[in-house]
Amino acid sequence: MPRKILVTSALPYANGSIHLGHLVEYIQTDIWVRFQKMRGNTCHYICADDTHGTPIMLRAEKEGITPEQLIARVWQEHFDDFAAFHVAFDNYGSTNSDDTKESAQGIYRTLKANGLIEVRSIEQYFDPVKNMFLPDRFIKGECPKCHAKDQYGDNCEVCGAAYAPTDLIEPYSAVSGAKPELRNSDHYFFKLSSASCQKFLREWTTGKLTNVPPLQQEAANKMQEWLGAEGENKLTDWDISRDAPYFGFEIPDAPGKYFYVWLDAPVGYMGSFKQLCNKSTLTPTLSHGERGQSLPSPTGRGAGGEGTPLNFDDYWKQGSDAELYHFIGKDILYFHALFWPAMLQHAGFRTPTKLFAHGFLTVNGEKMSKSRGTFITARSYVDHIKNTEYLRYYYAAKLNGTMEDIDLNLEDFVAKVNSDLIGKYINIASRCAGFLTKLFDGKLVFSNSKRLLDGAIVSGQLVSESFEARDYARALRDIMAIADRINVEIAAAAPWTLAKDETQRAALQDISSRALHGFYVLSILLSPVLPALTSRVARELFGMASDFTWADLAVLPTNVNTYQHLATRLDPKLIEAMVAANQESLKPMTETHSQQRHAEAQQHTISPSAGTAQTLPSPQPSPLKGEGANAGAIAPTISIDDFAKIDLRVARIVNAEHVEGAEKLLKLTLDIGEAQPRTVFAGIKSAYDPEKLKGRMTVMVANLAPRKMKFGLSEGMVLAASGETPGLFILSPDAGAQPGMRIK
Ligand code: 2FM
Ligand code: ZN
Repeated sequence: MPRKILVTSALPYANGSIHLGHLVEYIQTDIWVRFQKMRGNTCHYICADDTHGTPIMLRAEKEGITPEQLIARVWQEHFDDFAAFHVAFDNYGSTNSDDTKESAQGIYRTLKANGLIEVRSIEQYFDPVKNMFLPDRFIKGECPKCHAKDQYGDNCEVCGAAYAPTDLIEPYSAVSGAKPELRNSDHYFFKLSSASCQKFLREWTTGKLTNVPPLQQEAANKMQEWLGAEGENKLTDWDISRDAPYFGFEIPDAPGKYFYVWLDAPVGYMGSFKQLCNKSTLTPTLSHGERGQSLPSPTGRGAGGEGTPLNFDDYWKQGSDAELYHFIGKDILYFHALFWPAMLQHAGFRTPTKLFAHGFLTVNGEKMSKSRGTFITARSYVDHIKNTEYLRYYYAAKLNGTMEDIDLNLEDFVAKVNSDLIGKYINIASRCAGFLTKLFDGKLVFSNSKRLLDGAIVSGQLVSESFEARDYARALRDIMAIADRINVEIAAAAPWTLAKDETQRAALQDISSRALHGFYVLSILLSPVLPALTSRVARELFGMASDFTWADLAVLPTNVNTYQHLATRLDPKLIEAMVAANQESLKPMTETHSQQRHAEAQQHTISPSAGTAQTLPSPQPSPLKGEGANAGAIAPTISIDDFAKIDLRVARIVNAEHVEGAEKLLKLTLDIGEAQPRTVFAGIKSAYDPEKLKGRMTVMVANLAPRKMKFGLSEGMVLAASGETPGLFILSPDAGAQPGMRIK
């Protein structure tokens, strides 16, 4: 029986651009959803813009537009960014919708009827110039601990201390600069500390209610900490109201009071799903994938329904047999694991089956930073790199279903894409398809079909377990191991040699067919990660009428069409250009996603810092113009033919060692793609520790006459830069260069 699954990703705030940090989550979710759909499960992926709150209201005001205008513009940008990265929501909505409003107000009314809402007067800072109460992040002042100036109302960025806004020395409003006044106002609280909420959360978080633990181990441990021991009432009531002026939904029967953005944000999951239900009754059958992505609809957009009308209650009412999964960042666990399930439970809805929390993104081992050019927006990536499936592949290779942070190492990114995707996967088809189309009319023949089919099924089983467990890193390791085996078989059979001998036609067709079957299997397994590329493989190369499904593993392809170029190597220069384009000159941080997150997450959270957020730019030494090494005048001009005589090659330093009795020399063993590595004695001992050179790539002159030296024969020369100032610097090619490549 196909499973009924509803999947969400966290709703991005409508006041900032989607960046590479956000994409970790959307790509992770999209891969899982595509996998479920390929397996034949009914799976709906919904999301929406998170549109309410003070930062959005203030930003619209600053831009001289209404909040509605601002969120409409940002919605379109977000929608386009997700589409560019092949994130295929079945519906992408907005929390500022009637559907979300109805659900939020309905939930509130039920909670109130169940005695779980309480009104209390609280004292808060008020900006007398702007006439508004100030969220903690909009109050600044001197840190009470280290006395650093201009610190936020909730914590100090200099010493890290956490405090209440009332602890700040000389507080001022970050909106108007005015001195804030303490004023009282009635606030509405959801009684999370009630016996009923405490009991429910204890049971739910440990999986007692459903027999399926809803949280990863690390998250479950966190919950234990937040809930405290049995009998220890650690949860405090949750303030769900904000005073006007506020961009959000008014609380029923409470004029001038609005739902705090975090109350209606998760309800946006329901609102977006309602839109999908409405569409499903309007639109004809549409299968998953990009094809329906741009379908216009008055209320949210996405791929539409599955043909049969969708029923909201089937997925959301208590007792539903559907599965509900929320993919979230670890910093919003508190909202999703405590407030949200407690709200759902006490308002008559089902609770989430599981929460899948992930870690933050670092770039080159550090927080994304504007000053380093590593705070990269989705748009900027598309503008520079274009191929968004490269990033999908890289993220997938790093994601293992835990809450660990993942690092986008830009050099490794290039190397991995080029060696795995191009070197191992694409290469199979580009090398072998031509033999079949040119010599055998595109026909594949198999001498042992059963063995091939069994192999494909076993691989499919293995990889599907990893996808299901969101351990995409393991899935890709297994997939690339299959690619390695196919490449070894191709190299052993050497079809390019067989092709030269007319008597070897059967052997040529056999190896080419097996290679193409291998490529077919790899393409199916890679489809959740590389949906656009594998769609082309299915339709263009194998002439199929639709994209791959998992069931296609049980079928042998019979024909291939002429191989059309599928993907190119990733040029490291594109990465350099992207980083340079994102490098901002030093300036103070303006309003950002992270600020919104902090501004809105100020209360009742354990306040982890948003790891995807930018850091404050730190001063960087700037290179002085015209400064350089004085290394003498330029040598006399040579012709291109003179230069062409020098055969420069990329070399991998396989080994490096000291030479007994030599003062300046290191003995290097260099791989330049030849059968035997070369030995070169290089005068670089003063500058390099041989251990650190091992494995490194460099450049050598490969056609220099061998020279007999006191310590042995030197078969070439390694290039190094030097000037008048001390230092000796060997050269390195950009990531992706392979041993033996010629430098011209
Ligand atoms: O942290 C954030 O970016 C929030 N906008 C996420 C909301 S997720 C859900 F609850 F709506
Ligand atoms: Zn401080």
